[in-house]
Amino acid sequence: MRRFYLQPGGALNGEISVPGDKSVSHRAVMLSAIAHGRSRITGFLESADCLATLHAFEAMGVSFTRDGAALVVDGVGRDGLQAPATALDLGNSGTSMRLMSGLMAGQRFDSRLVGDASLSRRPMARVIEPLTRMGAHIEGQEGGRAPLSIHGSQRLQGIDYTPPVASAQIKSCVLLAGLYAQGITRVTEPGISRDHTERMLSAFGVRIEHEARTLSITGGQTLEAADVAVPADLSSAAFFIVGATIAQSSEIVLPGVGINPTRRGVIDILVRMGADIRLYDERIQAGEPVADIVVRSAALTGVDIGGAEVELAIDEFPAIFVAAACAEGTTRLTGAAELRVKESDRIAVMADGLRQLGVEVEVADDGLTIVGRGAATAFGGARIACHDDHRIAMAFAMAALRAHAPIEIDDCDFVDTSFPGFVDLAAVAGLQIQASEVSV
Ligand code: S3P
Repeated sequence: MRRFYLQPGGALNGEISVPGDKSVSHRAVMLSAIAHGRSRITGFLESADCLATLHAFEAMGVSFTRDGAALVVDGVGRDGLQAPATALDLGNSGTSMRLMSGLMAGQRFDSRLVGDASLSRRPMARVIEPLTRMGAHIEGQEGGRAPLSIHGSQRLQGIDYTPPVASAQIKSCVLLAGLYAQGITRVTEPGISRDHTERMLSAFGVRIEHEARTLSITGGQTLEAADVAVPADLSSAAFFIVGATIAQSSEIVLPGVGINPTRRGVIDILVRMGADIRLYDERIQAGEPVADIVVRSAALTGVDIGGAEVELAIDEFPAIFVAAACAEGTTRLTGAAELRVKESDRIAVMADGLRQLGVEVEVADDGLTIVGRGAATAFGGARIACHDDHRIAMAFAMAALRAHAPIEIDDCDFVDTSFPGFVDLAAVAGLQIQASEVSV
């Protein structure tokens, strides 16, 4: 087991290049694999999650090679995937499993999608249900969990679908199955969710219509190879944005970070709390908005967070909670029950860790109230369990910048699912962090 050791205090400074966006990297592999021709992906995130997707397509006959900084994908076309010899192991990755279940439902061969203990606990009925309505044949485990056995050669039919929760993974799953379905598949979103799939399908030549909250895709369309430049991941940058905000005498530059409007809630929430975050050179890179982000230390004030804002920052709440714990006044999050079914129960696990640091926290079914300790007060030391959740580990690592005693964090192996190289990058920026392997 990897354990992080953090000495208290310090500041973050300098230019920090965080790795590529996880959501965009997954989609780039999936779409280029089923496109005709050769695609080049730059900035691909070589994390455990994205490599799980890549290896799954390799097992279905897609060739991936490196050319300098680019990942070169020889797409096999919409109907060119081969039956994999074994189950497709998607590790810890919910995005791989949910998006690929849509793709696999449209194939002429059977497949089995498996994952690790955390992924096998996460809800999959949310994709099994619409896919079954389209005519797919999927067997999950008790309570709609993975492993999923997907029977090929089913005739899929387009449906009109409104997911029960705003979820890019459900939306993307249904749209990808819609590529293989007869007629038109429509997804009406109950709220805003990240739109990388729609943007990238368009870049690969697929017509996808967007009217109000409804997306429509006509089945039978083919994809043409395209080049994808993956932006730096705002979800990874978020830890440094919070770190530089809460630590004194900090100033960091984060170049080329994705600021897609369906993802940038963390920036807007932190700015509302008083953070000094500035965006420079806003531009479009391969269909995605990016900017260079400059963050300086700032004093924060607690805020209420809820409604539409929640989905726009859904993966950043562990970091936002640490910021809230450093703010003056109380922060209340509501309408965020989805946090309970992420890589861990992020409401319960963050509440436990914050309490260990001496923070007053009240838990609700759909959120959390955090009584900020204010500008002057530092956290106590603690040994925190992150329950195999990468984002919990990185959020608490940043808390050390405001601690007065060392913090230890257990179960940090999973940081590699989204952010390989986190420890080295954070150490260069000024976090006093060390990682070591300990036997359990
Ligand atoms: C993701 C969508 C989000 C997010 C996850 C990545 C994606 O999940 O939490 O980390 O790449 O589509 P939901 O769409 O289920 O909210």
